Amino acid sequence: MKPIKVGLLGIGTVGAGTFNVLKRNQEEIARRAGRGIEIVMVADLNPERARELVGAQCEVVGDGNLVVAHPEIDVVIELIGGYGVARELVLKAIANGKHIVTANKALLATHGDEIFRAAQDKGVMVAYEAAVAGGIPIIKALREGLTANRIEWIAGIINGTTNFILSEMREKGLDFDTVLREAQRLGYAEADPTFDIEGVDAAHKATLMAAIAFGIPVQFDKAHVEGITKLEAVDIRYAEQLGYRIKLLGIAKRTDQGVELRVHPTLIPAKRLIANVEGAMNAVLVQGDAVGATLYYGKGAGSEPTASAVIADLVDIARLADAQPEHRVPHLAFQPQSMSDLPI
Ligand code: HSE
Repeated sequence: MKPIKVGLLGIGTVGAGTFNVLKRNQEEIARRAGRGIEIVMVADLNPERARELVGAQCEVVGDGNLVVAHPEIDVVIELIGGYGVARELVLKAIANGKHIVTANKALLATHGDEIFRAAQDKGVMVAYEAAVAGGIPIIKALREGLTANRIEWIAGIINGTTNFILSEMREKGLDFDTVLREAQRLGYAEADPTFDIEGVDAAHKATLMAAIAFGIPVQFDKAHVEGITKLEAVDIRYAEQLGYRIKLLGIAKRTDQGVELRVHPTLIPAKRLIANVEGAMNAVLVQGDAVGATLYYGKGAGSEPTASAVIADLVDIARLADAQPEHRVPHLAFQPQSMSDLPI
């Protein structure tokens, strides 16, 4: 079978990780995909740095429009982030018949319905495992592994930066600003770290999980969002004295009135597994009516953990690209069971 051809928009931390892992595990990945995966063009605002990262392996350009219009490219990986240029290029790529892989939770949580609908109309797939909880295959678990279940609730530590901050403040008694700077240095934080510390990033991810788990449209604007900026070291100490840990949780819950979607700091008994998730790690608890409680744990950010999810999506697309759209689109492109607005 012919290799699948890929274009990459934005080669920062995750893009570089994607290149490295694809190269390192090339044979296994090709075997699992049933064909080779070739990145043929990379667009980045800094083409010189991009060229250093990818060497002579593929063409490097400064304009993403060249990637989305490239006649040979089957899949576009969007790793630009943000809503403006990323939305425009993703929609153009879809219009040109390209499948999409994206790690961009902000884009999907705010423009997901538009993007998924465009993809459905065009018969292409939009895959976004990397957008939620980095390397943890939570999208696949919700969509496939737990498909027999009526999901009752999801509760997760889905922002590594804030979990890192809360952990370091508790363990080392460090102050908020010092730990935030360290999280930025380690590459966990968003370009705009207020998205992390104000709970917005976690709400983007909770919104996407809720859409899959409950079959509702993406409704980020309905989420209750509260971050960790009002917490002080003394809150963390008192919680500890009372036998609790404070964690920023993203919660999506089925209720008789509709789906509840919220992000806020939560007191969790210290003996619970999820209370002991420390550092930039993520963990997601999912309660299904058949399976009961399940827990998924792993790295929620960083170069190769996120690349692991990007490549899993590429493999899925490589395997399904030649299938009839009606057989594969529901598998990857989110399709609400009803476009009606469930009350939150
Ligand atoms: N800023 C995010 C986090 C990166 O800290 O979890 C991964 O989405």
